[in-house]
Amino acid sequence: MDPIPYTDAKLRRILSSVRTIAMVGASSNWNRPSYFVMKYLQNKGYRVIPVNPGTAGKEQLGEKIYASLRDIPEPVDMVDVFRASDAVGPIVDDAIAIGAKVVWMQLGIRNDAAAEVAEEAGIEVIMNRCPKIEFGRLGGELSWSGVNSGIIRNRAPEPPTARRIKPRPLPDTNVTYGFETRAVHAGAAPDPATGARSTPIYQTTAYVFEDVDHAASLFNLHNFGYIYSRLTNPTVAVLEERVASLEGGRAAVAAASGHAAQFLVFATMLEPGDEFLASRNLYGGSLTQFGLSFKKLGWTCHFVDPKDPENFRRALTPKCKAIFVESLANPGGVIVDIKAIAGIAHDAGLPLIVDNTLATPYLCRPFEHGADIVTHSTTKFLCGHGNSMGGIVVESGRFDWAQGGKFPSMTEPEPAYHGLRFYENFGDFAFTTKARAVALRDYGPSMAPMNAFLTITGVETLHVRMERHCANAQAVAEFLETHPKVA
Ligand SMILES: Cc1ncc(COP(=O)(O)O)c(C=O)c1O
Repeated sequence: MDPIPYTDAKLRRILSSVRTIAMVGASSNWNRPSYFVMKYLQNKGYRVIPVNPGTAGKEQLGEKIYASLRDIPEPVDMVDVFRASDAVGPIVDDAIAIGAKVVWMQLGIRNDAAAEVAEEAGIEVIMNRCPKIEFGRLGGELSWSGVNSGIIRNRAPEPPTARRIKPRPLPDTNVTYGFETRAVHAGAAPDPATGARSTPIYQTTAYVFEDVDHAASLFNLHNFGYIYSRLTNPTVAVLEERVASLEGGRAAVAAASGHAAQFLVFATMLEPGDEFLASRNLYGGSLTQFGLSFKKLGWTCHFVDPKDPENFRRALTPKCKAIFVESLANPGGVIVDIKAIAGIAHDAGLPLIVDNTLATPYLCRPFEHGADIVTHSTTKFLCGHGNSMGGIVVESGRFDWAQGGKFPSMTEPEPAYHGLRFYENFGDFAFTTKARAVALRDYGPSMAPMNAFLTITGVETLHVRMERHCANAQAVAEFLETHPKVA
């Protein structure tokens, strides 16, 4: 039987407008097509009333079964027919009698004469189709099984009726989760469209806007949402939230590498002519980035021996805007007194930035000791498998950027956003918002979604790997401690 070419608009309109469906020929055998359709339609929020003289009086899927359409004591919008084609005539008569608006004949059922009678009575008729299949096709579900839906979309598919969400009670108090749970789950939720449990790799550059106003409100930062993957990407966002959670921070912005993350921090904070202090025990690449390349941008770094925190106080100049240290320096393993240095920075109204790459939040959470910004080369332990470059900036949300008028980029009108003041608008996540909306946008060192996915997967085992690294280090130290060739 050839399909009748109904328009998708008509099928969608019918499935969107009907609410109560009487199913003639509903079987209570759970393995029959009518049972499948009834269960599916109930799940989509329809009220489905079974009609079958053989089982009348019993219950099926929570609904009373009636012997005939005329016995149903309430209004029915649509009659769904699971009977042979030549049995449809009397069913149409009943449908007219009860004031139904639609008669829908299932796959393989077609009765043109009965359809004509129904249409003359003002009833819409669909023949040789299944409402379950049409609902799934129009809502995009059928495409998940590789079925050719015949639909080309420029918007996310929308089901004909709103999704029915089963109410779930929320606990009276917010649950706090341990490090391991957050390492596996923080920032990630099952994909809302497909239910995919693992974070999908959103290998996309662009996102569709609802209309021009929606686009404008995203670009102006009036609304939260995805704009373009140089700024925001759903896979990268999972990593950002996960690291923010592990560090106990407020927000994070990821970058293409650890060096890119450091660049975002200083590009957000400094003006040409500004200065900052940095520990002289830093990863070699950071020494050249700060000492040589930053100089070309008009930013001067003074290096300080971090062993005595007071060295930082002595080195401060009126143009200094920040202090930068590594919690556990690469490669010397030098440990700095974060609390003492944070105190010195705060006395001068400056933020303390800590590169926590080597310690990772498993061993050290600099915010707990007074740091204001944490950076990482995620390339190292966070990723853990040597397969993706990456960096991240996390902010504690506790630094007051308005004090002393030292940070105009945070407090003064931003010309690139029509005079928006970032600190005023975004408060305790203003720094990462500015780093993203201006530095990441204009300089462009964004993290690739694939790298974010690999890094997320790495972070899931961070606690297990760090435990083993520490056990290995302990074994080496104990061996060397008693070795005659070690002084
Ligand atoms: C402590 C530390 N900070 C920053 C970096 C720079 O990170 P990336 O190589 O990801 O740019 C490194 C790289 O080795 C590092 O060890």
